[in-house]
Amino acid sequence: MFDDIAKRYDLLNHLLSLGQDFYWRRVMTRELSAQPGQLILDLAAGTGDSSLGLLKQGAEVVGLDLSHNMLAIARAKLAGMSFAAVQGSAYAMPFHDSSFDGLTCAFGIRNMHETPKALAEIFRVLKPGGRMVILEFSMPTGWFRPMYRLYLRAVIPAISQVLSDRSAYEYLGDSIEKFYTPPAFRELLHRAGFTAIKQIPLSLGTVYAHAAQKPFAAESKKNRNEVQ
Ligand SMILES: C[S@@+](CC[C@H](N)C(=O)[O-])C[C@H]1O[C@@H](n2cnc3c(N)ncnc32)[C@H](O)[C@@H]1O
Repeated sequence: MFDDIAKRYDLLNHLLSLGQDFYWRRVMTRELSAQPGQLILDLAAGTGDSSLGLLKQGAEVVGLDLSHNMLAIARAKLAGMSFAAVQGSAYAMPFHDSSFDGLTCAFGIRNMHETPKALAEIFRVLKPGGRMVILEFSMPTGWFRPMYRLYLRAVIPAISQVLSDRSAYEYLGDSIEKFYTPPAFRELLHRAGFTAIKQIPLSLGTVYAHAAQKPFAAESKKNRNEVQ
């Protein structure tokens, strides 16, 4: 699906988010606050917009994604920067344990339906003490919820029918409505072993930045559990 919508992906992102997507990715980058020279995995890097802020912080970025066409755009956009695009799956990442100083995943985790499996892989490839920030859509609560639902179900499909692929953007709304609530996602992060979990609501709760850390003592704790 992402191969098919790759060409118009950036345009639709900026249009349908009313330009908010720049702000969301800025918050993600700020929360990770990568140090120059650190190696960061941008999981589900897509067309590379989520990697750009990290590169500007001086990090070296590996962008992993399933979609060849999305990555082709990222490669062209980030040419000459410390960016390496790798095509592969979040469920079986082609990296050794404890490879990365930090990790970001912007609007990717919602598409990984075996979410605990993806989180286990994220945990595995992060170094002990490594931080990650997952940016993802969420359904707002309260008065804004019905309006937002109408936007997802009627406005987005109508616009995308003209500019891109209606069914892909119907999937977008559907997957947002079905994704974990922030408390349920916090519980998943906790169960995957992450600590220092911080959840930041953005744009009336339509997006959350979920930040967390792989604890330094993770290996020994895991080993202890295996022995018991
Ligand atoms: C909505 S795009 C986000 C792209 C980019 N991070 C951004 O902020 O614009 C989601 C990306 O997740 C990728 N993706 C979905 N499932 C995946 C999986 N299991 N493993 C790796 N990438 C996946 C898709 O190919 C797509 O490029």
